[in-house]
Amino acid sequence: MRLDRVVTSGIFSLDGQDFDVDNNVWMVGDDNEVVVIDAAHDAETILAGVADRRLKAIISTHGHNDHINAAVEVATTAGCPIFLHPDDAMLWDVVYPEHRFDTDLTHGDVITVGGAELKVLHTPGHSPGGCCLYVPSQGMVFTGDTLFNGGPGATGRSFSSYDVILDSIEAHLFSLPADTAVHTGHGDSTSIGAEAPSMPEWRSKQE
Ligand SMILES: [Fe+2]
Repeated sequence: MRLDRVVTSGIFSLDGQDFDVDNNVWMVGDDNEVVVIDAAHDAETILAGVADRRLKAIISTHGHNDHINAAVEVATTAGCPIFLHPDDAMLWDVVYPEHRFDTDLTHGDVITVGGAELKVLHTPGHSPGGCCLYVPSQGMVFTGDTLFNGGPGATGRSFSSYDVILDSIEAHLFSLPADTAVHTGHGDSTSIGAEAPSMPEWRSKQE
């Protein structure tokens, strides 16, 4: 399997506020085909990362604008479907009121690319339709904004829940092997083993 990352920059908007953000765009596949995890901000940069490979799908970890705002342009250019969990459709509709995504993500789905299997884990909390993608054969999980290096994703704005995100992380991420690499939607990677000991501390405080 081949893993590439490009970092793109733009604006996250929610609840009438704007924030400058850098997003990780992960590309999983091989030299022939690839999936893009979160087509953020900059279609040209993402398509350059795909290069001459077949883009099989864009998988959106959730519907916040900073994770999907280049998805339609990339998908249209490459001729691929966009995947999103339907519980984030109301977030998608803010960005693309006239263009529905193509395929619903469902917990337990398996997406194959480049000989690897990506297993869909529905991990609500940061948003209702938030999903992670676990690649058992590579010992890695792509967590979007559900789990970062240093803690859970933000839950202070609309459609979020701190208790729900901790339940999702505990049930679906901290049950993975400790040496599983965690590749996040923003910032540095981490591992399950590095983050799991902090759960009691996170439980003891409310965001
Ligand atoms: Fe987000």
